[in-house]
Amino acid sequence: MARFNERFLDLKESYLFSEVAKRVSTFKEKNPDRDVIRLGIGDVTLPLGGSVVQAMHRAADEMGKAETFRGYGPEQGYDFLREAIARHYKEIGADIDADEIFVSDGAKSDTGNITDLFSADNTVLIPDPVYPVYVDTNTMNGRNIVFINGTAENDFLPMPDRSVRADIIYLCSPNNPTGACYNRQQLEEWVDYALANDAVILFDSAYESFISDKELPRTIYSIEGAKKCAVEFCSLSKTAGFTGTRCGYTIVPKAIKSVSPDGREMSLNKMWNRRQTTKFNGVPYVVQRAAEAVFSPEGQRESKAMTAVYLENAHIIADTMNELGVRYTGGINSPYIWFECPFGMDSWTFFDHMLEKAGVVGTPGAGFGKNGDKWFRLTAFNNKENTIEAMKCFRKLFD
Ligand code: MLT
Repeated sequence: MARFNERFLDLKESYLFSEVAKRVSTFKEKNPDRDVIRLGIGDVTLPLGGSVVQAMHRAADEMGKAETFRGYGPEQGYDFLREAIARHYKEIGADIDADEIFVSDGAKSDTGNITDLFSADNTVLIPDPVYPVYVDTNTMNGRNIVFINGTAENDFLPMPDRSVRADIIYLCSPNNPTGACYNRQQLEEWVDYALANDAVILFDSAYESFISDKELPRTIYSIEGAKKCAVEFCSLSKTAGFTGTRCGYTIVPKAIKSVSPDGREMSLNKMWNRRQTTKFNGVPYVVQRAAEAVFSPEGQRESKAMTAVYLENAHIIADTMNELGVRYTGGINSPYIWFECPFGMDSWTFFDHMLEKAGVVGTPGAGFGKNGDKWFRLTAFNNKENTIEAMKCFRKLFD
């Protein structure tokens, strides 16, 4: 009989957002007449921009004609999209070559898939709380995980501890779930630490487009030395409404080297290329043309307008927290509001309480790590009307 990977026994019974969805559907079965407002999973609600949809239509028409039909595309992504992404990087302060950019179906897959490149005996440093994919995928691989604490005391922005030796470091900024965002000096410290330890930073920048403060870095490559030690993951999911369309990109600079246990050097860029060509057949042509349109001037205007709507919702939620005296972070350079559970409740108890009494769904902080046990996340991705209504119901919890 085939033996299974025992590491799966170390995982929680279900993935965080599957558990949330399960509890909501149980609630709906028991209360079919109750309306529920979803501020749980960070799924967007605004439609794709007009220029993006037009690009998809044009590409679909090309696929329907023998002269312009395309079969398998390059696993790394079409040049037209890789070059558009390279131009975007220039605009946000970094020089990236198109052949350092790998187009994918999203940052979630890539932040997990990248673990293929590293030996199982590496020590992985992961902030707590953070997006659960980093912990789950490294647990599946049986790696030693060391957690660094994000707490209200350090504004949920943990910094390197020089006494800890790490080989791989996950950072997410603006952070999911806390919305906290590293400044330039803090990222410089992380890059210094990685270079001093010969470590690799796996930097998740999926929420970079929500950074409105011009002083905050939107890519780790705007920090000197980062191209020697950092891989960056980004996605069009939140930036341009691609959660259902699926397109992201991973930057693996050619300057990053890694060594085998017996000291042989390999280029991570070549290894990722090798991995992708074996295991991935690329993103559909139609989707890549849509993604290319996101980086056009019109596409950028559309994306900015979407981000502005979500940030306005975030302000509505933040205003409610201010009014009620609830401690929170995020909501300024991020679509997430991370607040302390009221009434001394732990986060799963508060999840049930809020669902039952207010009909609002959020995400329990415990799902992002032990430091989230008394904290809770709301997203700004619903529409304005629902966000206002959800906050009205939320206020009633305090009557
Ligand atoms: C979240 O709610 O944390 C995100 O939607 C998850 C994701 O992007 O996969």
